[in-house]
Amino acid sequence: MERTFVMIKPDGVRKGLIGPILTRFEQKGFKLQEMKLMRIERDKAEQHYQEHREKAFFGELVSFLTSGQVCAMVWEGPNAVAAARLLIGHTNPANAAPGTIRGDFALEVAENIIHGSDSAESADREMELFFGTDAKPGIPSFDVDELD
Ligand code: PPS
Repeated sequence: MERTFVMIKPDGVRKGLIGPILTRFEQKGFKLQEMKLMRIERDKAEQHYQEHREKAFFGELVSFLTSGQVCAMVWEGPNAVAAARLLIGHTNPANAAPGTIRGDFALEVAENIIHGSDSAESADREMELFFGTDAKPGIPSFDVDELD
């Protein structure tokens, strides 16, 4: 079993897609381990995207992530990191296959609804960043930090 970090970004929350996205993960067979509706401070957004710090769109990406509530989650399943990336679809929604989350719900890379860890190492780092030592396998917890 493997765990991966998934985050519905502010555009996904604004469009009311938390329910449909949870359904897709559950229908696929993933088990929800953690879920937290929250707003992210600039510092945490910069840490989350640290490997993209040099990219031209970094500032835009951080501003976007801090523009509203996000829904942070940990999902468990066999090959969870790769399987979640397949369910999510191509980074650029214009190239994402129909049936994937980005293929069905988004059109632009700057607002692509959802993030999924790109490796087991990233998943560990991101789970630690968002859930700390509370992220214990098999013990779900549900928090609502800030409602607006
Ligand atoms: S990936 O998935 O890491 O291989 O994708 P990458 O192309 O390296 O993109 C890294 C994250 O940056 C987001 N992104 C952008 N945001 C705003 N504008 C532009 N042009 C842009 N291009 C890429 C992309 O969605 C990735 O974020 P996450 O949250 O990981 O999907």
